[in-house]
Amino acid sequence: MKIPFLLNKEDQEYINQEKKHYENPKAASIEILKFIQNKYHWIPNHFINPIAKILHMSCSELEEITTFYSQIFRKPIGKNIIRYCDSIVCYINNYKIIQKKLEKLLQIHPGQTTQNKQFTLLPTCCLGKCDKSPVIMINNHTYTNVTPKKLPILLDQYKL
Ligand code: FES
Repeated sequence: MKIPFLLNKEDQEYINQEKKHYENPKAASIEILKFIQNKYHWIPNHFINPIAKILHMSCSELEEITTFYSQIFRKPIGKNIIRYCDSIVCYINNYKIIQKKLEKLLQIHPGQTTQNKQFTLLPTCCLGKCDKSPVIMINNHTYTNVTPKKLPILLDQYKL
């Protein structure tokens, strides 16, 4: 069965342009996956084959990359990604109460996305601000000394 070439012209142009920056086109894969994800918020299955083809890779090679990197999503995610640190110092400083409050406010469990596609909740390893734990990250912004009381105010900033 022939798989249709589903990348639009703009995406193909970007990929072809990006791969020129690398001696080995495979080396462009992360940047290209990030571009696709920024645009579509995840990497749908039907993009794997055409991207792999352009980069002279097998689909399984590209799949391996997408599954290796925790920042690459293979299923739809919310507009905002909330990560709570569950590493040792945050564990000692009771990240669990933060996690539980987030679950309650968002009505989802870790790994899930809210029905309105506003938020995805994920655990993460140390965010490097251990001296100010517990720590969460929303998109690219890190919040330290988080308390359950602060969370509704924080989330409000990201709601439409
Ligand atoms: S252990 Fe949570 S920020 Fe380091």
